[in-house]
Amino acid sequence: MPNNPKLQPRPAVAKMAPYHPPSGDRGDKLRLDFNENTIGCSETVTQFLVEHLVENDLAVYPEYSAARRELAAFFRVADDDFAITNGTDEAIQVLINTYVDDDDDVLILKPAYAMYKFYAEVAGASVREIAYRPGTLAFPLAELLGAIRPETKAILISNPNNPTGTGVDHEGIIRILKRAPHAAVLIDEAYYEFSGVTALGMLKEYPNLFVSRTFSKVYGLAALRIGCLFTQASNVEWLQKAQSPYSVNSLAVLAARAAIRDTQFIERYVGEVLAARELLYVGLEKLNIPYIKSQGNFVLTQMGDRAIEIRDDLRTRGILVRDRSYEIAGCVRITVGTRDQMRHLLKELEDLWRKK
Ligand SMILES: Cc1ncc(COP(=O)(O)O)c(C=O)c1O
Repeated sequence: MPNNPKLQPRPAVAKMAPYHPPSGDRGDKLRLDFNENTIGCSETVTQFLVEHLVENDLAVYPEYSAARRELAAFFRVADDDFAITNGTDEAIQVLINTYVDDDDDVLILKPAYAMYKFYAEVAGASVREIAYRPGTLAFPLAELLGAIRPETKAILISNPNNPTGTGVDHEGIIRILKRAPHAAVLIDEAYYEFSGVTALGMLKEYPNLFVSRTFSKVYGLAALRIGCLFTQASNVEWLQKAQSPYSVNSLAVLAARAAIRDTQFIERYVGEVLAARELLYVGLEKLNIPYIKSQGNFVLTQMGDRAIEIRDDLRTRGILVRDRSYEIAGCVRITVGTRDQMRHLLKELEDLWRKK
């Protein structure tokens, strides 16, 4: 990086580690590396986009009122109980920008979705990480409760968690909310459709609760960047002060409106993934590859010192999986797609695994 002594970034940014998610050249491969929908979105979405997209629409700044009504009805919340966001990533960013200042205390878990730490660090927060339980990677409820301080400003939790696949139940969430009434508690439900566990029903009772949902995973709209951040209406007013007014583009809004109409597509895909996850478990057991049972559309496996080699060899065979050994030694995360895709993966994996 060229050094320009006259122009320096904020110290919080200067000391951050760079984040380079692997990307590029993924479209033509079997994408088992980002927990996306592996078959693409519903055709209802692409048809709706084509029907509704006329030249004039692209000339107009995005409008959200129809989407807001339809999304509220779909998620069974009031129209003003959520912000529409540019993916969960913007939800995390807006939450942090609304509630967290320089040096403020933020609690996250480890390992966890990388963007919690990313946005907290950009904001200059003081981040503390609580480790998932060694071995089982179970949610460390007692440890987290014990770590909450009167000055804690935000607690960011993914439920179920990426990459562990493990989760926290309603009772645990309530204990966290009650212990930290002074903190914004985010329950990121990016994988809700696979786990069936949601905190949305608790919104009315807990003014410090924030729940995020995304259209990037089961809905197959990761490219468009859209999600929702639910919380009580009085909090939404604060969030919207910190959010750019047009951060979600019109195509994404149209796509989300169409996606929630095709509930059959979602039910069928979730059913397929849950069956494929069982198939993957059986295949891994056959190969004696340890794994953690998951509540999401991904499984964390333990490939020991062969983690990187297996990831690279699978790539040469057109299959992408995600190495997570930088967080937990030897771990590789595999996204679950359809049963056919899992059979294909297992066939190649078996061939590679037995080679040495
Ligand atoms: C826990 C979790 N939250 C959020 C996201 C990203 O969501 P979005 O695409 O809506 O920003 C991911 C993606 O991997 C994730 O694992």
